[in-house]
Amino acid sequence: MKTTTSTHVTHYEVQKTRRNRLLEEWRGYQRALVKRSEVEMVDVPSRRTRRGVYMGWDGERPTKNLDASIHEIPPHTTTTVHRHSWDAIMFVESGRGWTEIDGQVIQWRPWDTLHLPAWAWHRHGNDGDASAVFHTWSVEPMLESFGVALLEEGGDSPYSELPAPPRQAEAPEGDDPYARRVRRLAASARGADGARLITRFDDVRGVVTPRGARSLFLVDQSIGYHTAGLSAVMHELAPGLYQSRHRHGGEAWLYAVSGRGHSEIDGVSYPWEAGDLVVVDHWAWHQHFNDDTKQTARLIRVHNFDALYDMIRILLDPIDLFEEPKVLDAPDLSGITWPDHFAGRPEA
Ligand SMILES: [Fe+2]
Ligand SMILES: [Fe+2]
Repeated sequence: MKTTTSTHVTHYEVQKTRRNRLLEEWRGYQRALVKRSEVEMVDVPSRRTRRGVYMGWDGERPTKNLDASIHEIPPHTTTTVHRHSWDAIMFVESGRGWTEIDGQVIQWRPWDTLHLPAWAWHRHGNDGDASAVFHTWSVEPMLESFGVALLEEGGDSPYSELPAPPRQAEAPEGDDPYARRVRRLAASARGADGARLITRFDDVRGVVTPRGARSLFLVDQSIGYHTAGLSAVMHELAPGLYQSRHRHGGEAWLYAVSGRGHSEIDGVSYPWEAGDLVVVDHWAWHQHFNDDTKQTARLIRVHNFDALYDMIRILLDPIDLFEEPKVLDAPDLSGITWPDHFAGRPEA
């Protein structure tokens, strides 16, 4: 073990060089759009699935906070079981199947959304004759940045034979700082027990927002989820219209579920269609447009505002990390006749 220091440059110079290099490196990784055609599906024999990476180290498009992948489960296949220290949102694109989360089997169909909580054992199954395809967005990169990303494999073991998750201690008596900490952590852990795991598309309906879209929560603490900060909303843009312009720090990702349009990000236009991922990042003014004058376009917005971004906002206050025009430049949607809630959902 090294116990002596032999540096001849000052800490200032060391840090400055390192910090400059870091930003230069990460600017090189920035992507505003990932087309579905750029996402190569690769066999994953150890899980019996196929997987493609939209954004993330594993697809050579490095990220620091979120990652985005697409998964395919072949017909009549059950995956192996695993668990990890990060949580993820899962959105079903097509097919029917089920996911077992800590022993609880949840059936799903297209446009259902699930939460895979941190440390929950999970495996997926497809008993049908057609492939099932779903997307995941996780905070694995964030946990990797913090040095606490960990994944455990359980093979084909039934849930009853798998090790229990790390258990939060019950709060000791007293009002000392240690007892307070344990009590606070225990309360938070209890909040995660029995939290919501699925939003069935059958059971939700969109509401028109002042921003200019018909929107619904897929995953959010306000509808009963307990995530590490992830939240997802489905926005439906009216035919030929758009959402109001704004900018914020951090990342917001928009996955195009249906339709076609373009996003203007700091004056550059990025055309997208169903299957593409728009990555809004780094304090850029952005606005999303539906270019189809007949059909709506559905986008899923995923971000990690409730943990990382709120922390950054607190650390950087009074710098305001959300900006929108005083008068929202949203279109008037009062005359719009919205299509049926289920329009465009694939059969399964
Ligand atoms: Fe997983
Ligand atoms: Fe945004």
